[in-house]
Amino acid sequence: MRTPLVVANWKMNGTLAGARGLTAGVLDGLRRPRGVEVVLCPPFTALHVVGELLSGSPIALGAQNCHWESAGAFTGEISPAMLVELGCRYVVLGHSERRKEFGESDEHINRKMHAVLAAGMTPILCVGETAEERRQGLTFATVEGQLRAGLAGLRNAAIGACILAYEPVWAIGTGVNATPAQAAEVHAYLRGRLAEVASKEVAQRVRVLYGGSVKPDNAGALTAEPDIDGALVGGASLNAQGFVTIVKKATHKGVTVLRGDS
Ligand code: PGA
Repeated sequence: MRTPLVVANWKMNGTLAGARGLTAGVLDGLRRPRGVEVVLCPPFTALHVVGELLSGSPIALGAQNCHWESAGAFTGEISPAMLVELGCRYVVLGHSERRKEFGESDEHINRKMHAVLAAGMTPILCVGETAEERRQGLTFATVEGQLRAGLAGLRNAAIGACILAYEPVWAIGTGVNATPAQAAEVHAYLRGRLAEVASKEVAQRVRVLYGGSVKPDNAGALTAEPDIDGALVGGASLNAQGFVTIVKKATHKGVTVLRGDS
């Protein structure tokens, strides 16, 4: 059984004061999560303060990106080792905003995957098609290409340590989420390809999150799909109460885990 995972991607938002307040709100709403894992990914500038607040709590710290080298002349970049020092356990890689706005190629992302795993952290590899690709019937080809390129050269054990996120580009920040059926179809496809790239066992172990306009009112239906193992939440993660509700909805049913859960 795969434990659901809910990841907050704050993107480039928030002051330090805002990050402290948001973290405190999430901690307050999720005192003793059981049957679900939670990760907060603040901007680099807030990793230290958020990490201090999360320390000793069951909620983990993650970053939104990193470089593949461990040190050197890479102005403006942050290395995996630097993130480990701050207590990060997860790194989002290959987000469509990084691919589109910052020209990240599948090859860059693959290097980052290797570097993050070598540093002992868990990469969250994002894949997803644009509206145009979906219209042309290229959804499966697109996500499969991104998946295979992102995982290239990794051994089965390393692939088993990764997390995948299916994030249709047309659903990110638009308010238009994929329907549970649309998402479930792609998740099942990705799991099938994972079985080919690695093995059936690995494919059963890897969590595949859905991301793209996840909100308190759609999180339950999306994560109820057997192949959807949680959510990567952007905009809605900037509101502590809303995010806490999403986590509750993604939690394994039958497990009373959260303060105030009834
Ligand atoms: P959104 O973003 O929830 O604001 O659509 C999701 C993401 O980009 O990870």
